[in-house]
Amino acid sequence: MTSYGKREKMPHRILGIETSCDETSVAILDVGSRVKILHHDIASQIDVHALYGGVVPEVAARLHVAETVSLIDRALSSKAGQTIDAVAVTQGPGLATALRVGIEAGRAIAFAKELSIIGVNHLEGHLASAWLVPENRRRWVFPILTLLVSGGHSELVLMKDFCSYRVLGRSRDDAAGEAFDKTAKLIGLGYPGGPAISKHAQSGNPIAFDFPRPMMHDRSFDFSFSGLKTAVRREWESMSSAKQKKKKTVDDFSASVQQAIIDVLVHKTIRAIQEYQPKAVTIVGGVSANSELYAQMKQAIGNENGRTFLMAPARGLHTDNAAMIAAAGAWRLQKGERHDWRKIDAKPEWDL
Ligand code: KG4
Ligand code: ZN
Repeated sequence: MTSYGKREKMPHRILGIETSCDETSVAILDVGSRVKILHHDIASQIDVHALYGGVVPEVAARLHVAETVSLIDRALSSKAGQTIDAVAVTQGPGLATALRVGIEAGRAIAFAKELSIIGVNHLEGHLASAWLVPENRRRWVFPILTLLVSGGHSELVLMKDFCSYRVLGRSRDDAAGEAFDKTAKLIGLGYPGGPAISKHAQSGNPIAFDFPRPMMHDRSFDFSFSGLKTAVRREWESMSSAKQKKKKTVDDFSASVQQAIIDVLVHKTIRAIQEYQPKAVTIVGGVSANSELYAQMKQAIGNENGRTFLMAPARGLHTDNAAMIAAAGAWRLQKGERHDWRKIDAKPEWDL
Protein backbone atom coordinates (compact mmCIF):
# COMPACT_ATOMS: atom_id res chain seq x y z
CA MET A 1 0.00 0.00 0.00
CA THR A 2 1.33 3.45 -0.91
CA SER A 3 0.11 6.99 -0.21
CA TYR A 4 -0.62 9.92 -2.45
CA GLY A 5 1.90 12.61 -3.02
CA LYS A 6 0.59 16.00 -1.85
CA ARG A 7 0.14 17.28 -5.39
CA GLU A 8 -1.80 14.27 -6.69
CA LYS A 9 -5.48 14.81 -7.34
CA MET A 10 -7.85 12.76 -5.19
CA PRO A 11 -9.91 10.34 -7.33
CA HIS A 12 -13.65 10.89 -7.15
CA ARG A 13 -15.22 8.72 -9.86
CA ILE A 14 -14.65 5.13 -8.90
CA LEU A 15 -15.23 1.90 -10.79
CA GLY A 16 -16.17 -0.81 -8.24
CA ILE A 17 -15.78 -4.53 -8.98
CA GLU A 18 -17.18 -7.33 -6.79
CA THR A 19 -16.63 -11.07 -7.47
CA SER A 20 -16.06 -12.57 -4.00
CA CYS A 21 -18.92 -15.09 -4.00
CA ASP A 22 -21.99 -15.61 -6.16
CA GLU A 23 -22.72 -12.16 -7.61
CA THR A 24 -20.70 -10.47 -10.33
CA SER A 25 -21.17 -6.75 -9.92
CA VAL A 26 -19.72 -3.58 -11.43
CA ALA A 27 -20.59 -0.02 -10.42
CA ILE A 28 -19.48 3.54 -10.96
CA LEU A 29 -19.75 5.78 -7.91
CA ASP A 30 -19.21 9.52 -7.85
CA VAL A 31 -17.94 10.96 -4.56
CA GLY A 32 -17.21 14.48 -5.77
CA SER A 33 -19.48 17.28 -4.56
CA ARG A 34 -22.20 14.66 -3.87
CA VAL A 35 -22.28 10.88 -3.51
CA LYS A 36 -24.15 9.25 -6.38
CA ILE A 37 -24.28 5.79 -7.94
CA LEU A 38 -23.97 6.58 -11.66
CA HIS A 39 -24.01 3.02 -12.97
CA HIS A 40 -24.67 -0.35 -11.35
CA ASP A 41 -25.04 -3.91 -12.62
CA ILE A 42 -25.42 -7.07 -10.56
CA ALA A 43 -25.40 -10.45 -12.33
CA SER A 44 -26.53 -13.04 -9.82
CA GLN A 45 -25.41 -16.66 -10.14
CA ILE A 46 -28.00 -17.84 -7.63
CA ASP A 47 -30.10 -19.79 -10.14
CA VAL A 48 -27.11 -21.90 -11.12
CA HIS A 49 -25.90 -22.56 -7.56
CA ALA A 50 -29.46 -23.37 -6.48
CA LEU A 51 -29.23 -26.48 -8.68
CA TYR A 52 -26.40 -27.71 -6.43
CA GLY A 53 -27.99 -26.59 -3.13
CA GLY A 54 -25.23 -24.05 -2.40
CA VAL A 55 -22.30 -22.14 -3.89
CA VAL A 56 -19.82 -24.32 -5.84
CA PRO A 57 -16.51 -22.35 -5.93
CA GLU A 58 -15.29 -23.66 -9.30
CA VAL A 59 -18.64 -22.90 -10.93
CA ALA A 60 -18.66 -19.43 -9.33
CA ALA A 61 -15.23 -18.59 -10.75
CA ARG A 62 -16.20 -19.72 -14.24
CA LEU A 63 -19.39 -17.67 -14.19
CA HIS A 64 -17.47 -14.61 -12.96
CA VAL A 65 -15.09 -15.00 -15.94
CA ALA A 66 -18.08 -15.06 -18.28
CA GLU A 67 -19.79 -12.01 -16.72
CA THR A 68 -17.02 -9.68 -15.52
CA VAL A 69 -15.76 -8.57 -18.93
CA SER A 70 -19.22 -7.82 -20.31
CA LEU A 71 -20.27 -5.89 -17.18
CA ILE A 72 -17.05 -3.87 -17.24
CA ASP A 73 -17.52 -3.24 -20.95
CA ARG A 74 -21.04 -1.90 -20.28
CA ALA A 75 -19.80 0.32 -17.45
CA LEU A 76 -16.87 1.74 -19.41
CA SER A 77 -19.08 2.33 -22.46
CA SER A 78 -21.57 4.36 -20.41
CA LYS A 79 -21.29 8.15 -20.16
CA ALA A 80 -20.01 7.90 -16.58
CA GLY A 81 -17.42 5.34 -17.70
CA GLN A 82 -15.58 8.01 -19.74
CA THR A 83 -14.41 9.83 -16.63
CA ILE A 84 -13.46 7.19 -14.05
CA ASP A 85 -10.27 7.99 -12.18
CA ALA A 86 -9.85 4.99 -9.86
CA VAL A 87 -10.66 1.30 -9.52
CA ALA A 88 -11.84 -0.38 -6.29
CA VAL A 89 -11.91 -4.17 -6.28
CA THR A 90 -12.83 -6.72 -3.63
CA GLN A 91 -9.62 -8.31 -2.41
CA GLY A 92 -11.15 -10.59 0.26
CA PRO A 93 -12.53 -12.36 2.18
CA GLY A 94 -14.18 -14.74 -0.26
CA LEU A 95 -13.56 -17.60 -2.68
CA ALA A 96 -9.93 -17.40 -3.86
CA THR A 97 -10.50 -18.13 -7.54
CA ALA A 98 -13.62 -15.95 -7.69
CA LEU A 99 -11.77 -13.00 -6.09
CA ARG A 100 -8.93 -13.36 -8.61
CA VAL A 101 -11.27 -12.86 -11.56
CA GLY A 102 -12.26 -9.38 -10.31
CA ILE A 103 -8.74 -8.50 -9.25
CA GLU A 104 -7.21 -9.44 -12.61
CA ALA A 105 -9.85 -7.36 -14.41
CA GLY A 106 -9.28 -4.41 -12.06
CA ARG A 107 -5.52 -4.42 -12.37
CA ALA A 108 -5.73 -4.67 -16.18
CA ILE A 109 -7.90 -1.52 -16.25
CA ALA A 110 -5.66 0.29 -13.77
CA PHE A 111 -2.61 -0.55 -15.91
CA ALA A 112 -4.17 0.26 -19.27
CA LYS A 113 -5.81 3.52 -18.18
CA GLU A 114 -3.10 4.52 -15.69
CA LEU A 115 -5.59 4.74 -12.81
CA SER A 116 -5.20 4.32 -9.07
CA ILE A 117 -6.38 0.97 -7.73
CA ILE A 118 -7.47 0.10 -4.21
CA GLY A 119 -8.16 -3.40 -2.88
CA VAL A 120 -11.22 -3.41 -0.65
CA ASN A 121 -12.18 -5.65 2.25
CA HIS A 122 -15.61 -7.07 1.37
CA LEU A 123 -16.77 -6.65 4.99
CA GLU A 124 -15.79 -2.97 4.92
CA GLY A 125 -17.86 -2.81 1.72
CA HIS A 126 -20.89 -4.03 3.66
CA LEU A 127 -20.20 -1.38 6.36
CA ALA A 128 -20.14 1.26 3.62
CA SER A 129 -23.40 0.01 2.05
CA ALA A 130 -25.49 1.92 4.61
CA TRP A 131 -23.49 5.12 3.94
CA LEU A 132 -24.79 5.13 0.36
CA VAL A 133 -28.22 6.21 1.67
CA PRO A 134 -28.38 10.06 1.78
CA GLU A 135 -30.49 10.14 4.98
CA ASN A 136 -27.99 7.85 6.72
CA ARG A 137 -25.07 10.05 5.66
CA ARG A 138 -26.73 13.02 7.37
CA ARG A 139 -26.81 11.01 10.64
CA TRP A 140 -23.37 9.45 10.17
CA VAL A 141 -21.77 10.42 13.49
CA PHE A 142 -19.14 8.17 15.08
CA PRO A 143 -18.98 5.96 17.04
CA ILE A 144 -21.37 3.81 15.03
CA LEU A 145 -22.23 0.28 16.10
CA THR A 146 -22.66 -2.13 13.18
CA LEU A 147 -24.28 -5.54 13.16
CA LEU A 148 -22.85 -7.23 10.07
CA VAL A 149 -24.82 -10.35 9.22
CA SER A 150 -24.14 -12.14 5.94
CA GLY A 151 -23.77 -15.63 4.53
CA GLY A 152 -20.20 -15.92 5.77
CA HIS A 153 -20.03 -13.53 8.74
CA SER A 154 -21.85 -12.40 11.90
CA GLU A 155 -19.99 -9.59 13.61
CA LEU A 156 -20.60 -6.68 15.94
CA VAL A 157 -18.26 -3.88 14.95
CA LEU A 158 -17.67 -0.50 16.56
CA MET A 159 -16.78 2.02 13.87
CA LYS A 160 -14.69 4.72 15.57
CA ASP A 161 -14.07 6.61 12.33
CA PHE A 162 -13.92 5.85 8.61
CA CYS A 163 -11.62 2.82 8.24
CA SER A 164 -11.08 2.52 12.01
CA TYR A 165 -12.89 -0.42 13.57
CA ARG A 166 -12.99 -2.51 16.67
CA VAL A 167 -14.56 -5.95 16.24
CA LEU A 168 -16.48 -6.51 19.48
CA GLY A 169 -17.53 -10.07 18.65
CA ARG A 170 -17.88 -12.51 15.80
CA SER A 171 -19.31 -15.91 15.05
CA ARG A 172 -17.35 -18.80 16.50
CA ASP A 173 -18.83 -21.21 13.95
CA ASP A 174 -21.73 -20.76 11.50
CA ALA A 175 -22.81 -17.27 10.42
CA ALA A 176 -26.44 -16.13 10.76
CA GLY A 177 -26.92 -16.42 6.98
CA GLU A 178 -25.66 -20.01 7.10
CA ALA A 179 -28.24 -20.82 9.77
CA PHE A 180 -30.96 -19.56 7.38
CA ASP A 181 -29.42 -21.37 4.39
CA LYS A 182 -28.91 -24.71 6.16
CA THR A 183 -32.42 -24.70 7.64
CA ALA A 184 -33.91 -23.98 4.21
CA LYS A 185 -31.92 -26.82 2.65
CA LEU A 186 -33.03 -29.21 5.41
CA ILE A 187 -36.71 -28.45 4.99
CA GLY A 188 -36.57 -28.40 1.19
CA LEU A 189 -36.79 -24.65 0.49
CA GLY A 190 -33.64 -24.51 -1.66
CA TYR A 191 -30.82 -21.94 -1.87
CA PRO A 192 -30.46 -19.18 -0.72
CA GLY A 193 -32.42 -19.83 2.43
CA GLY A 194 -32.93 -16.37 3.93
CA PRO A 195 -35.55 -15.03 1.51
CA ALA A 196 -37.47 -18.35 1.48
CA ILE A 197 -37.47 -18.76 5.27
CA SER A 198 -38.57 -15.16 5.82
CA LYS A 199 -41.41 -15.57 3.30
CA HIS A 200 -42.76 -18.70 5.01
CA ALA A 201 -42.21 -17.12 8.43
CA GLN A 202 -44.71 -14.38 7.57
CA SER A 203 -47.58 -16.85 7.96
CA GLY A 204 -45.99 -18.96 10.71
CA ASN A 205 -46.09 -18.97 14.50
CA PRO A 206 -42.67 -17.98 15.96
CA ILE A 207 -43.28 -19.84 19.22
CA ALA A 208 -44.54 -23.10 17.69
CA PHE A 209 -41.11 -24.72 18.13
CA ASP A 210 -38.84 -23.97 21.05
CA PHE A 211 -35.34 -23.65 19.61
CA PRO A 212 -32.19 -22.71 21.61
CA ARG A 213 -30.76 -19.16 21.53
CA PRO A 214 -27.03 -20.08 21.63
CA MET A 215 -24.71 -17.75 23.62
CA MET A 216 -27.48 -15.18 23.99
CA HIS A 217 -26.65 -14.59 27.66
CA ASP A 218 -22.92 -15.12 27.30
CA ARG A 219 -20.92 -12.07 28.44
CA SER A 220 -18.93 -11.85 25.21
CA PHE A 221 -20.26 -10.33 21.98
CA ASP A 222 -19.49 -13.53 20.05
CA PHE A 223 -22.14 -15.57 18.27
CA SER A 224 -22.57 -19.29 17.68
CA PHE A 225 -25.26 -20.79 15.46
CA SER A 226 -24.08 -24.39 15.05
CA GLY A 227 -25.98 -25.57 18.17
CA LEU A 228 -29.16 -24.09 16.72
CA LYS A 229 -28.49 -25.92 13.45
CA THR A 230 -28.19 -29.26 15.33
CA ALA A 231 -31.40 -28.64 17.31
CA VAL A 232 -33.26 -27.68 14.13
CA ARG A 233 -32.12 -30.85 12.35
CA ARG A 234 -33.07 -33.06 15.32
CA GLU A 235 -36.55 -31.51 15.55
CA TRP A 236 -37.18 -31.81 11.81
CA GLU A 237 -36.01 -35.43 11.64
CA SER A 238 -38.23 -36.38 14.60
CA MET A 239 -41.35 -35.50 12.57
CA SER A 240 -43.33 -37.83 10.32
CA SER A 241 -42.99 -37.09 6.60
CA ALA A 242 -46.73 -36.36 6.50
CA LYS A 243 -46.23 -33.59 9.07
CA GLN A 244 -43.12 -32.27 7.26
CA LYS A 245 -45.15 -31.86 4.08
CA LYS A 246 -47.81 -29.62 5.65
CA LYS A 247 -47.54 -25.93 4.75
CA LYS A 248 -48.37 -25.00 8.35
CA THR A 249 -45.41 -27.04 9.64
CA VAL A 250 -43.01 -25.37 7.20
CA ASP A 251 -44.39 -21.90 8.06
CA ASP A 252 -44.21 -22.48 11.85
CA PHE A 253 -40.78 -24.07 11.59
CA SER A 254 -39.46 -21.14 9.50
CA ALA A 255 -40.95 -18.54 11.87
CA SER A 256 -39.50 -20.30 14.94
CA VAL A 257 -35.96 -20.63 13.51
CA GLN A 258 -36.05 -17.03 12.30
CA GLN A 259 -37.18 -15.81 15.73
CA ALA A 260 -34.38 -17.73 17.49
CA ILE A 261 -31.80 -16.04 15.21
CA ILE A 262 -33.42 -12.60 15.61
CA ASP A 263 -33.55 -12.90 19.42
CA VAL A 264 -29.80 -13.55 19.60
CA LEU A 265 -28.91 -10.75 17.14
CA VAL A 266 -31.16 -8.17 18.81
CA HIS A 267 -30.18 -9.10 22.37
CA LYS A 268 -26.43 -8.84 21.67
CA THR A 269 -26.82 -5.58 19.74
CA ILE A 270 -28.78 -3.99 22.59
CA ARG A 271 -26.13 -5.08 25.08
CA ALA A 272 -23.43 -3.52 22.88
CA ILE A 273 -25.47 -0.28 22.72
CA GLN A 274 -25.67 -0.22 26.52
CA GLU A 275 -21.94 -0.77 26.86
CA TYR A 276 -20.59 1.45 24.07
CA GLN A 277 -23.29 4.15 23.74
CA PRO A 278 -22.92 4.61 19.95
CA LYS A 279 -24.42 7.65 18.19
CA ALA A 280 -26.06 5.41 15.57
CA VAL A 281 -26.53 1.74 14.74
CA THR A 282 -26.39 0.08 11.33
CA ILE A 283 -27.40 -3.41 10.26
CA VAL A 284 -25.79 -4.56 7.03
CA GLY A 285 -25.09 -7.76 5.06
CA GLY A 286 -27.52 -10.10 3.30
CA VAL A 287 -29.42 -11.06 6.46
CA SER A 288 -30.20 -7.39 7.14
CA ALA A 289 -32.65 -7.68 4.21
CA ASN A 290 -34.85 -9.60 6.66
CA SER A 291 -37.70 -7.17 7.38
CA GLU A 292 -38.67 -8.88 10.65
CA LEU A 293 -35.10 -8.49 11.94
CA TYR A 294 -35.15 -4.80 11.03
CA ALA A 295 -38.57 -4.23 12.62
CA GLN A 296 -37.68 -6.00 15.87
CA MET A 297 -34.30 -4.26 16.07
CA LYS A 298 -35.96 -0.88 15.60
CA GLN A 299 -38.50 -1.64 18.29
CA ALA A 300 -35.85 -2.89 20.75
CA ILE A 301 -33.66 0.19 20.19
CA GLY A 302 -36.74 2.40 20.64
CA ASN A 303 -37.53 0.70 23.97
CA GLU A 304 -33.92 0.94 25.10
CA ASN A 305 -33.08 4.44 24.00
CA GLY A 306 -35.21 6.34 21.51
CA ARG A 307 -32.30 8.62 20.53
CA THR A 308 -30.17 6.06 18.70
CA PHE A 309 -30.76 6.10 14.96
CA LEU A 310 -31.02 2.76 13.13
CA MET A 311 -29.60 2.68 9.59
CA ALA A 312 -29.66 0.02 6.89
CA PRO A 313 -28.69 -0.17 3.20
CA ALA A 314 -31.13 0.75 0.44
CA ARG A 315 -33.28 -2.00 -1.04
CA GLY A 316 -31.17 -4.26 -3.25
CA LEU A 317 -27.88 -3.22 -1.59
CA HIS A 318 -28.08 -5.54 1.45
CA THR A 319 -26.60 -8.46 -0.48
CA ASP A 320 -23.33 -8.35 -2.40
CA ASN A 321 -22.87 -5.48 -4.84
CA ALA A 322 -20.13 -3.34 -6.35
CA ALA A 323 -21.52 0.07 -5.28
CA MET A 324 -20.60 -0.73 -1.66
CA ILE A 325 -17.10 -1.80 -2.79
CA ALA A 326 -16.65 1.51 -4.62
CA ALA A 327 -17.88 3.34 -1.48
CA ALA A 328 -15.38 1.58 0.81
CA GLY A 329 -12.74 2.20 -1.85
CA ALA A 330 -13.61 5.91 -1.73
CA TRP A 331 -13.13 5.94 2.07
CA ARG A 332 -9.67 4.42 1.63
CA LEU A 333 -8.67 6.61 -1.33
CA GLN A 334 -9.72 9.71 0.59
CA LYS A 335 -7.35 8.66 3.35
CA GLY A 336 -4.61 8.69 0.72
CA GLU A 337 -4.27 4.92 0.35
CA ARG A 338 -3.86 3.00 -2.89
CA HIS A 339 -2.26 -0.20 -4.14
CA ASP A 340 0.34 -0.96 -6.75
CA TRP A 341 -1.46 -2.77 -9.60
CA ARG A 342 1.55 -5.10 -10.00
CA LYS A 343 1.28 -6.39 -6.43
CA ILE A 344 -2.40 -6.59 -5.57
CA ASP A 345 -3.57 -10.16 -4.91
CA ALA A 346 -6.53 -12.00 -3.35
CA LYS A 347 -6.82 -12.29 0.44
CA PRO A 348 -9.41 -15.08 0.84
CA GLU A 349 -9.24 -15.10 4.68
CA TRP A 350 -8.99 -11.33 5.27
CA ASP A 351 -10.68 -10.13 8.45
CA LEU A 352 -11.78 -6.55 9.12
O1 KG4 B 1 -24.03 -10.40 2.16
P1 KG4 B 1 -24.40 -11.56 1.33
O2 KG4 B 1 -25.02 -11.31 -0.01
O3 KG4 B 1 -23.20 -12.50 1.05
C1 KG4 B 1 -22.10 -12.69 1.90
O4 KG4 B 1 -21.24 -11.79 1.98
O5 KG4 B 1 -22.10 -13.76 2.54
O6 KG4 B 1 -25.39 -12.46 2.22
C2 KG4 B 1 -26.00 -13.61 1.74
C3 KG4 B 1 -26.80 -14.22 2.87
C4 KG4 B 1 -27.37 -15.59 2.56
O7 KG4 B 1 -27.05 -16.45 3.63
C5 KG4 B 1 -28.86 -15.35 2.47
O8 KG4 B 1 -29.65 -16.47 2.86
C6 KG4 B 1 -29.04 -14.19 3.43
O9 KG4 B 1 -27.92 -13.37 3.19
N1 KG4 B 1 -30.28 -13.44 3.19
C7 KG4 B 1 -31.30 -13.36 4.09
C8 KG4 B 1 -32.34 -12.63 3.47
N2 KG4 B 1 -31.91 -12.27 2.22
C9 KG4 B 1 -30.65 -12.78 2.07
N3 KG4 B 1 -31.41 -13.86 5.33
C10 KG4 B 1 -32.56 -13.63 5.99
N4 KG4 B 1 -33.61 -12.95 5.47
C11 KG4 B 1 -33.54 -12.42 4.22
N5 KG4 B 1 -34.58 -11.76 3.72
ZN1 ZN C 1 -21.25 -10.08 1.36
